[in-house]
Amino acid sequence: MYQDLILLKFTAKRKQKYSPFSFAKINPMKIAILSRNPNLYSTKRLHQAIVEAGHEALIINHSICDLIIEQDGPSIIYKGEMITGVDAIIPRIGASVTFYGTAVVRQFELMGSFSVVNSQAIVRSRDKLRSLQILSKAGLGMPKTAFTNFSKGGEKQIVEHVGGAPLIIKLLEGTQGLGVVLAETKKAGQSVIEAFHGLKARIIVQEFIKEAKGADIRAFVVNGKVVGAMKRQGAEGEFRSNLHRGGMATVIKLSRAEKAAALGAAKALGLDVAGVDMLQSARGPLILEVNSSPGLEGIEKATGIDIAGEIVKFIELGVKKKTTSRVNNQ
Ligand SMILES: Nc1ncnc2c1ncn2[C@@H]1O[C@H](COP(=O)(O)OP(=O)(O)O)[C@@H](O)[C@H]1O
Ligand SMILES: [Mg+2]
Repeated sequence: MYQDLILLKFTAKRKQKYSPFSFAKINPMKIAILSRNPNLYSTKRLHQAIVEAGHEALIINHSICDLIIEQDGPSIIYKGEMITGVDAIIPRIGASVTFYGTAVVRQFELMGSFSVVNSQAIVRSRDKLRSLQILSKAGLGMPKTAFTNFSKGGEKQIVEHVGGAPLIIKLLEGTQGLGVVLAETKKAGQSVIEAFHGLKARIIVQEFIKEAKGADIRAFVVNGKVVGAMKRQGAEGEFRSNLHRGGMATVIKLSRAEKAAALGAAKALGLDVAGVDMLQSARGPLILEVNSSPGLEGIEKATGIDIAGEIVKFIELGVKKKTTSRVNNQ
């Protein structure tokens, strides 16, 4: 019911803005959302925003697309039919299907569709280590992080690399707060590192940012602009602020430094649509991770902003730019 009300609110808002000179009137597009679940809030909102802007919307389950690669060029078969004429795609690729999902996004790109997030940028952002390496090179704030090659007997040294206890140990492949451990003492840190390494699990070790007080900030970036931001506070006694772990979201106005960090991170990773997660610390914003398929539910409900509509506006701009440059190149 609450969700229906929100949807109605967005509908009412956009109806007022509708103009007979809208982009869709002149250039209606076929926009595909790549999503495995049409009932998710994000998928439904994107679908609604596309239709309300006057375009054709379709939902394609990327996990059951067949990719055909031959001399005539790349094509996609979906539910027994060849997909044609898709002007733009919105990839919503879950972390568990990154490999196949990004192969589908790449196929669409090669077929000439505009993708709101580039396939290679999705691959880059899915690897926490690779992302942090790139952000470090870009000079952006982050918790000091160490990575080693299962160093047997070197646990004590790794703990020292990040300034001792308390410290954070993270599984490279973790999401939604699962696989993030807080070790209160050096001894505990060493034995957790030993245990993960014993299981041949890749981890990063990080200084613990105490001043963040169990909260983090999510900045939603679309096309070089922060279109919405929220603060997530972890449940009582919880250092992880993930909404999936019981965190609560509220709207927040970002400082200039926080805005710059969010935009810098999205740019460094090559993402035009991104959810940038940061900790507030004594030395300014520290980036934790950058999400290439950020959820819309938490941010739209916390801020009341039509984020799905912002993504559709970006597609309109992106496709226009692409068409113009294609004409110019001829
Ligand atoms: N170095 C850190 N210092 C303090 N809190 C942290 C640190 N790293 C992570 N956290 C907390 O744990 C949560 C989950 O960590 P994150 O790196 O985002 O992993 P995940 O991909 O599982 O969400 C963060 O949102 C934050 O609240
Ligand atoms: Mg996170």
